[in-house]
Amino acid sequence: MRLVLPEGTSILITGASSGIGRALALGLAAKRLRLYLTGRNATSLMEVVLRCREAGASGVSWGVADLATPKGVAQLFEDIQSSGTVISALVNNAGSGRFGNFASLEHEEIARMVHLLVVAPLLLAKKWLPDWQASRAGGVLQVASTGSFQPGPLTAVYYASKAFGLSWALALRHELRGSGVCVTVLCPGATLSQFSSRAGKSELPWARLPEFVARKALKAWFRGDHLVVPGWENRLLVTLSRLLPLSWVAFLASAGQKPAKKG
Ligand SMILES: NC(=O)c1ccc[n+]([C@@H]2O[C@H](COP(=O)([O-])OP(=O)(O)OC[C@H]3O[C@@H](n4cnc5c(N)ncnc54)[C@H](OP(=O)(O)O)[C@@H]3O)[C@@H](O)[C@H]2O)c1
Repeated sequence: MRLVLPEGTSILITGASSGIGRALALGLAAKRLRLYLTGRNATSLMEVVLRCREAGASGVSWGVADLATPKGVAQLFEDIQSSGTVISALVNNAGSGRFGNFASLEHEEIARMVHLLVVAPLLLAKKWLPDWQASRAGGVLQVASTGSFQPGPLTAVYYASKAFGLSWALALRHELRGSGVCVTVLCPGATLSQFSSRAGKSELPWARLPEFVARKALKAWFRGDHLVVPGWENRLLVTLSRLLPLSWVAFLASAGQKPAKKG
């Protein structure tokens, strides 16, 4: 089932201010679609808004929100409503991780990460799902990770949240069979963005460009695929992760986790 977007409606992209979200926004702008972009950094977000307008988007609205808190999600709902934007599709992309032992994480850090990666995506999808079902159109692009297939020592909460996203979105897709609503899961592997430096870990040398990831993701979403893993090395990793014992997979995942170099 292909992604159908009713005329005059917008695609909401979370985490549009940098990295993969920014590349997805520019890719959708080039398709002359209407967008609603959100992130926390207003300056970076405005830059993406301007680039999307230049790239040919039919319309671009935006709002700043911290999706790691219930207040931030409520703020986003309010801003979208007051802008008069009709959302017909959602890209659940905003995310950040944190390198370190689980025992070293603060309570607040854990709660924020789980809200951002688990709670907010569900609340956003739930908000508009009835409208999409009624119009038999629209959809969700859920940004998970190759880490969704692995237990991730030293980023345990992040990996577990990404496993949740994959499982939830594929189950939702099944529930929505024949409804006209299209759910696709994107599982990027290492991608060059601000993600690693923010998480406090070093960038992997084979990391892909966000534009490559976005191109593969949009092709798959518009075609109605259930899952897209950009890059042959990442598909190999996912295949191995599904075949090997989970204790080996955890070992494999830990090998890719190195703290950021100082200085
Ligand atoms: N890079 C990788 O290697 C990789 C691999 C697999 C999956 N992913 C996933 O891809 C997605 C995009 O990551 P990226 O690589 O593009 O990283 P990035 O460059 O750090 O971008 C992350 C985006 O999420 C937004 N964000 C972070 N915390 C937020 C919060 N509390 N509230 C609202 N927005 C927030 C950021 O907004 P501000 O900058 O405005 O704060 C930014 O727009 C994430 O879900 C990540 O888990 C990344």
